[in-house]
Amino acid sequence: MTDEARIKELREALHAHNYNYYVKSAPTISDQEFDRLLAELADLEARHPELYDANSPTQRVGSDLSQDFKQVQHARPMLSLGNTYSRADVAAFYNRVSEGLGGAPFDVFCELKFDGLSISLIYENRCLVRAVTRGDGVQGDDVTANIRTIRSIPLTLPADCPCPQQFEIRGEVLMPWHSFDKLNAQREEQGEQLFANPRNAASGTLKSKSSAVVARRGLDAYLYYLLADEQVAGTQAECMDKARAWGFQTSQHTRLAHTLQEIYDYIDYWDVHRSELPVATDGIVLKVNALAQQQELGYTSKSPRWAIAYKFQAERACTRLLKVTFQVGRTGAVTPVANMEPVPLAGTMVRRASLHNADIIASLDLHIGDMVYVEKAGEIIPQVTGVDTAARTAEIDESRRVTFITHCPECGTPLVRYPGEAAHYCPNAATCPPQIKGKIEHFISRDAMNIDSLGPETVADLYERRLLRNVADLYALRTEQLSGTDGKRQRSAEKLIAGIAKSREVPFSRVLYALGIRFVGKVAAKALAAHFGSAEALAQASLEEMQMVEGVGQVIAGSVRQWFMVEENRQLLARLAEAGLQMQEKPATEAVSDKLAGQSVVISGTFDHHSRDEYKALIEAHGGKSVGSISKRTSFILMGHNMGPSKLEKAKKENIPLVTEEEFRRMIGETE
Ligand code: IVH
Repeated sequence: MTDEARIKELREALHAHNYNYYVKSAPTISDQEFDRLLAELADLEARHPELYDANSPTQRVGSDLSQDFKQVQHARPMLSLGNTYSRADVAAFYNRVSEGLGGAPFDVFCELKFDGLSISLIYENRCLVRAVTRGDGVQGDDVTANIRTIRSIPLTLPADCPCPQQFEIRGEVLMPWHSFDKLNAQREEQGEQLFANPRNAASGTLKSKSSAVVARRGLDAYLYYLLADEQVAGTQAECMDKARAWGFQTSQHTRLAHTLQEIYDYIDYWDVHRSELPVATDGIVLKVNALAQQQELGYTSKSPRWAIAYKFQAERACTRLLKVTFQVGRTGAVTPVANMEPVPLAGTMVRRASLHNADIIASLDLHIGDMVYVEKAGEIIPQVTGVDTAARTAEIDESRRVTFITHCPECGTPLVRYPGEAAHYCPNAATCPPQIKGKIEHFISRDAMNIDSLGPETVADLYERRLLRNVADLYALRTEQLSGTDGKRQRSAEKLIAGIAKSREVPFSRVLYALGIRFVGKVAAKALAAHFGSAEALAQASLEEMQMVEGVGQVIAGSVRQWFMVEENRQLLARLAEAGLQMQEKPATEAVSDKLAGQSVVISGTFDHHSRDEYKALIEAHGGKSVGSISKRTSFILMGHNMGPSKLEKAKKENIPLVTEEEFRRMIGETE
C-alpha cells in the first residue's frame, strides 16, 4: 500500500473511532490502539507535508501559533429567539402559532436550551470547511482552527454519508461541568481569576488565540439546527435524526409534544432534572416541528415566529448593597466583595458576592445603597450582575459611587496593576498579613505539605502571637509555646507538632508546590522536580532549560526564575532545607506488586489516608494505571469523599464498580 493510501485509510478509521468514542460513547478499540494509529498517521504526515489536511484527526490537538480571527459573513443570518418566562407566555406562543396556521393541527419539538455560545458549521463535500461564531448575527469570527479541536464535532463525514453536498449545521459550544470544575481548580491553584460560569469559560476558551489551549480545555458541542438549500427532511425531529445518523452529537433529551400540556410536562420535568445533566442549560426551546409550517409562519425582523425560548427562573435576587470590602489573597490579588442585606437565593442566604475587579465595578456603575441583582451563575459563587437604577433615590449621589481602592487595605502599600491583567495586586509579599497567612495555609494544605493538624484559625492565632511569620517558622515551633495548662490543649499541641514533623517526609515535588510560586501548580511542580531533581539544580536552571520541561512555558519559567531571584525566598528555602524538608526528588516509586496489573483506575474525590497523588503512585507501584477520566475501559473507580455528581452518573451509566478507600487499601495489602 502506498503511504498516501495508508494515510487516507488511517484518517478514515480514526474519524470513525473518534465518533464512536465521543458521540456514541461506545469505543471499539482501546486507548492504546487509538494512540498507536494516531502516532502512525502523524509520522506518515510528517514525511508527506504535501498531503497536509486541516481536517486530519492529528489536528485535534491544536496549535500554539497565535491566530487572529477573520470576520466572516454568515450565509444565512443567525437570528436569536424570543424569550418567555412563564406558562402564560408559552400558552400565548402556542395560540399565536395555531392562529398563524389557520387552526391546522401542529406538533412542537421540545429541546433543551444549552447555555454556551452558538456556532455555525459549514460542511462541503463531507468536510468541515468553516466554523463561525454568531457575532452580531450577520457576521462572526472564523474560529475553525479552535472548533477542530472539539472531538465530538466531526471533521469529515463517512464517504457513504447521504448528506447534501453543502450544508450548514448550528449548535452550541459548551464547557461541561467536569471540564469547568477542572479548569477553575487549576486557575485557583495558579492564583488566576476564576470563570464565573461554564458559558463564560466556553466563550473565553473559544476566543483563545491558541488552539492548543482550546484542545486542552475539554469543550463539547450539541447541534440543533440543520440548514441546506435542498430539503433534507420534513420535520425538525427528522432533521435531528439525520444529523445524528451523519455523525453529529445531538441532544437525546428532546420530545415531540402534541398538546400544550405535554409542553408544560416537559418544562416541569427539566426544570428539576436539569441539575443532573453534564452541561449547563438555562431553559428550553420550543420549535414547530413541521418545516412547511415553520415556513408558513416565517420570521419577524429579529427571530422566527415558529420557535421560542422558555427560560428557567434565573436564580436571581434583588437586595441592597451595604458596602464594598476588598480581600487580599495569598498572591496579593485584591478581590472586591459586595456586602449586602441578606437575601435568600437558590436555597441559601446570600450576604456577600464577588465583584471580580475594577472594570466590572465601573461597568456596573455601582453606588453604595443601590438595589443590586445577585445571581448564582451556574450555581456557584454569587455575583452582582446588575443595578436597579430605577430604584436609586436622590441621596444615592456621586459621593456614593464605588471606586477601587488605591492602597492595600491590609498593609497600606500602593496597589499595582500589571499590563494585560484585570486584577490589582498588593506587591508587598514579604509583610502583608493576608498574603503571609494565605501562603502558610497553602503550604499546609492537603496536596502540599498535608499538615492537617493545623487549620486557618491556628495559623491566624500563631501569626498574631508572632510565632509564625513564614512557613519556615513552622519547623521551629515547640510544644510548650502552644500548649496551655489543661490536658486537652497539651494533647492537641503535641498532635500539631507531630503533624509538622511528619511533613518532613513529603517528597520534593510537593515541597516545591507548597512554596506557592505563582503559576506553579501541582503538575508543573512535579514536572520540574522530576526534571531537575533538586532545589539546588532548579535554582540554577536557566529560562531555556526550564522551558524544555513538558508543560512549562515562558510564564511558569519566568515566575520560577523571579522567585529564586528574591533574596528572602532563597533564605526561606535554606531554612526549610535546614529543617530537614526533602529538597531532592526520589526516583520514581519502584514496583511493589502486580496486584493491579492490567487495571485502569480513576481516582475521584478526597481521601483520609493518602493524598490523591499518593494513591496515583500506589496504583502504579502495584502495576495498575491511573487515568483521568471514566471510559468503558475503566476497571474501577477509587472513590473518595465528595465525588462529583457527573462522575458518579457516568460510572453508573458505564456500570463501573466503585471501590472505597478502605477497600482499596485492603486490595493492595495496606490493611488487613
Ligand atoms: S435554535 C432560529 N435550539 O439560544 C433558531 N437555540 O436565544 C435558532 N440555544 O442563539 C436557535 N439551545 O445560542 C436553538 N436547542 C436550541 C438551543 C438554542 C441553546 C441558544 C442559541 C441561540 C439562543 C437563542
